[in-house]
Amino acid sequence: MINNDAKIGVVGAGTMGTGIAQVAATQGHHVFLYDAYPEQLEKSKAGLESILARQVEKERMTQDEVDGILNRIEFVDNITGFGECGFVIEAIVEDLDVKKDTFSRLEAIVPRDCVLASNTSSLSIAAISSALKKPERFLGVHFFNPAPLMKLVEVIPGIATGDDVFKSTKEFIRSWDKITVSGKDTPGFIVNRVARPFYGEALRIYEEGIADAATIDWAMKEIGGFRMGPFELMDLIGHDVNYEVTCSVFEAFYYDPRFKPSFAQKRMVEAGWLGRKSGRGFYDYREGADNPAP
Ligand code: NAI
Repeated sequence: MINNDAKIGVVGAGTMGTGIAQVAATQGHHVFLYDAYPEQLEKSKAGLESILARQVEKERMTQDEVDGILNRIEFVDNITGFGECGFVIEAIVEDLDVKKDTFSRLEAIVPRDCVLASNTSSLSIAAISSALKKPERFLGVHFFNPAPLMKLVEVIPGIATGDDVFKSTKEFIRSWDKITVSGKDTPGFIVNRVARPFYGEALRIYEEGIADAATIDWAMKEIGGFRMGPFELMDLIGHDVNYEVTCSVFEAFYYDPRFKPSFAQKRMVEAGWLGRKSGRGFYDYREGADNPAP
């Protein structure tokens, strides 16, 4: 059982970790937001302050509410505070070995009844849990980007997850005003598996020179009715993350060609064109650029 007033630990202060910390703090929890890189903590704090300041400007939140949220988040460069947490969620790089190492370090510090979760998009919950002495307290809790706005959260039990842990976590996440969906521990779970061909086929059309990114995005929005086109969405998600997820799903499905990663996207990752977060992706987000995403 996770108490409604539990302290929350978030590992990784990137796009997802910062958003999840905001969600938890908005719900009144004290949050420890940890990152291994101090500059990332600064970036996360500055980003969150500016997002929340805009909410005040638009009169969607009061200054008191914003101050409350920011006061409840402790940006930390070590995991000592995690010894007080009832729920810890990891949102670091999509790399199995790094995640396993992180969880075995966390297990040594969190309370006995603390639930441990990964925000992984594509890695096996069973494989991550193999690093734990008590894998029954571990499961996948997969938020979508941007976490404060997206209602859906996939709650995925692994084969070792305790039934009580699965049920109480689902209930807990619902108490955060989210809608949960559960599925089996399979590559990409539900949403990222369905989404793979959306990105993959768009990248193939682009690579074959059939149409450019803006045209494909336009067609998917105007004709397909999607809120964002595949290239805009990849730029938002981050090409490093999106490419890593595709590689992981491709490998996990025994190299099924339906999930084959794209060279064009690989080159962008290699060049550091990661999308919005680095200023450049399929579109150019730098100051004064003339082709930002529509
Ligand atoms: P990101 O690159 O924005 O942030 C990752 C953060 O983790 C960085 O701040 C980095 O400094 C930190 N980090 C890396 N290794 C660390 C370690 N060993 N210990 C502590 N901190 C460490 O990545 P993002 O996009 O937030 O993704 C994080 C996780 O969430 C991944 O597993 C990804 O698959 C998943 N995810 C991503 C979504 C997206 O749209 N970007 C959507 C849903 C899930």
